[in-house]
Amino acid sequence: MSEFNDYSQHLIRRPRRLRSNPAMRELVAETSLRPADLILPMFIADGITEPREITSMPGVFNHTKDSLLKAAHEALDAGVRCVDLFGVPVDADKDATGSQAWAEDGILNVGLTALREEFGDDLMVMADTCLDEFTDHGHCGVVSLDRYGNAVVDNDATLPLYQQMAVAQAKAGAHIISPSGMMDGQIAAIRGALDAEGFEDVAIMAYSAKYASSFFGPFREAVGSSLEGDRRTYQQDPANLRESLLEVELDIAEGADFVMVKPALPYLDVLTRVAEASPVPVAAYQVSGEYAMIQAAGLNGWIDTEAVMMESLISIKRAGANQILTYFATEAARKLR
Ligand code: PBG
Repeated sequence: MSEFNDYSQHLIRRPRRLRSNPAMRELVAETSLRPADLILPMFIADGITEPREITSMPGVFNHTKDSLLKAAHEALDAGVRCVDLFGVPVDADKDATGSQAWAEDGILNVGLTALREEFGDDLMVMADTCLDEFTDHGHCGVVSLDRYGNAVVDNDATLPLYQQMAVAQAKAGAHIISPSGMMDGQIAAIRGALDAEGFEDVAIMAYSAKYASSFFGPFREAVGSSLEGDRRTYQQDPANLRESLLEVELDIAEGADFVMVKPALPYLDVLTRVAEASPVPVAAYQVSGEYAMIQAAGLNGWIDTEAVMMESLISIKRAGANQILTYFATEAARKLR
């Protein structure tokens, strides 16, 4: 007992010395968040005249063109440097191949054009490159029958459609293309198409490790998804980690400029492993269900929404993310200024 006290007390009392006040804590902080680390996902919807709040995502809206630009200005003013745009067409415009995805007057391309015209190069405009919002069956690719007569999402028939979509998005002014459909070979296909059309400068943020997650629930409401069933034949099984390293390796070899892990908080172990292995920036997506849970508990008075928001974001950063896609981006950036 006395030996313990005599010899070790100085060392035992070491940890708390560096927590003693806010200045000391900031001095020794190992991780920090910048507004520019945050990417704001946004939705532009066709057929509405007023912005419409998404029930399961309080504070997140289906935007008109005007309200989109206004909200993007607010994000930029807070220090956010990138927005990620999703398009929500009216049901009547959906079809089997999702052709509104590459139509020049498709809602997503209209939104991208408006953002690029408004902001030039002051705000990076990222486009979601996936067909699920535009197909009448809600899948991320073309559905065909296999040799046994089963309906399957057809990988290779989907790639040319992604190429067309990515080129249309680049033409509309996107700085970054973000393929989220989890088809094999999609990065190589899109990189080739962009280069062939003279868009060598347009970057690709690959949704590399994207899981078939129930945390996407509120997003399906946000985009009015037509999906019945699930995406387990093309998105990853939550049980697997090693597979993510393969996905990341392939995407980088195919030309990805960024890779992404999605969702974020339930997959921090995956994020850390990917961050250790990746020579390119690693993004993480705090998805709709993560946002909804924090909001719901906060609205019930069960947790402090702002505190949990900041804690979740610093945890994602600490685990290894360079960029974080989050519906909290503007709010969090304001707190960081
Ligand atoms: C597919 C896509 C999804 C999300 C982003 N891109 C949904 C899905 O794969 O089912 C989910 C985003 C979120 O939940 O916040 N285009």
